Amino acid sequence: MITRQFVDRQKLQEFHPFTRLRTLLEDIPAGRSCLEDGQVINLSIGEPQTQPPAFVAEEIEKAAKGWSKYPLSKGTPDYLAACAHWLGQRYKLPENFINPTKHILAVPGTREGLFMTALTVLSSPKKNSEAPVFLTPNPCYHVYTGAAAAAAAEVVTVNATKESGYLPDYTTVPEEILERTELCVLCSPSNPEGAVAEPQRIKDLISLARKHDFVVVFDECYAEIYTDTAPQSALEIAREMEAESDAAKNNAQHDPLANILVFHSLSKRSSAAGLRCGFIAGDEKWISMINTTCQVGGAGVPIPVQAAGTRLWQDEEHVNINRALYQQNFNLAQKILSPSLSVEIPAGGFCLWLNVGNGIEVTKKLWKDAGIRVMPGAFMSHANDDGVTPGDRYIRLALVYDPSFMKKAFISIRNILDEKQDVGING
Ligand SMILES: Cc1ncc(COP(=O)(O)O)c(C=O)c1O
Repeated sequence: MITRQFVDRQKLQEFHPFTRLRTLLEDIPAGRSCLEDGQVINLSIGEPQTQPPAFVAEEIEKAAKGWSKYPLSKGTPDYLAACAHWLGQRYKLPENFINPTKHILAVPGTREGLFMTALTVLSSPKKNSEAPVFLTPNPCYHVYTGAAAAAAAEVVTVNATKESGYLPDYTTVPEEILERTELCVLCSPSNPEGAVAEPQRIKDLISLARKHDFVVVFDECYAEIYTDTAPQSALEIAREMEAESDAAKNNAQHDPLANILVFHSLSKRSSAAGLRCGFIAGDEKWISMINTTCQVGGAGVPIPVQAAGTRLWQDEEHVNINRALYQQNFNLAQKILSPSLSVEIPAGGFCLWLNVGNGIEVTKKLWKDAGIRVMPGAFMSHANDDGVTPGDRYIRLALVYDPSFMKKAFISIRNILDEKQDVGING
């Protein structure tokens, strides 16, 4: 199901999940949590609580001279090379498929990158229509909608439900909307559901984007957190499509990354949300135009931060450790919660998307009875024409603490949902 709306910039707060959550809970006193000090437990925000490796501080210290310099918006050669190398290794791309200077742009995070991309793409519409269209999943990360509103685009949301594999099927969007579409987002692994897009879905979307000439943002910021199989990137699919393409053989000007931009950052991969360090890779023409937007309106990524980022993209050990911790958390969630709820361990990401029947009521109850803050699915979703959102029945839990902490939280949640306060759990 799709919905169409213009989001009024003045009313953006109405769409901001954290503002809505604050308003929902502000008059409800927090219950004492199960922690020894009774402090609240915040599972509402996807902010990894493990620390990034110690070498981050060392690299920043070594590059401290860079604090007195304005960073070039594009990124330092070392940083861009490290990003390109990581992409090449992680996605088994042929050498030179990604040219660090042409195809990569350093950005503080996927958030800033998304916003600058939306401003750039939606303010240079190629199609002669009343308003550019921005296609986004429903539910979704709120910055997509915010960026569309800032660029005065029409937001068209496509439901991501259990039936659609928790991902939007953009091939169902009517032609007349596709004809007006300038920008589209696919998040994989997705936030909030943790669904991973299968290669065919990515391929179909790239084909659709090329047919209707719009840009697709592949938000891959959770790519390094997965359960069994490493999620594929749109870059890999683009390479496969290139190998099959006649245009590639017949046209030297042809860009294998045409219409595609992928977004990555160290916030989730390296538990370094505060570092503000990421990159965009893809379509050379758009990378150059987004770079211009950033040159004018962005602050760039500080040089010492890029030095630390360079090292983080080169190190896999800390990423493997983080991934294993999230897996422990998911296993605990399943073991502790599944007698009461249907727990689906997602293919990727670190959030649990739990069907609790009434997400808003359960959010209030967990807060009031146990000082546990979660995000109601409705606050990450847009209402369809019938006033229902695909997130109404859900809550999102970000499993961002260590397993011993998460175990206490899960037991507390289960006890509240079961209305049994004294149930212990082994293991
Ligand atoms: C789906 C998604 N995209 C992007 C971001 C932004 O992350 P960052 O800007 O730190 O890379 C987040 C953060 O929670 C997210 O969940």
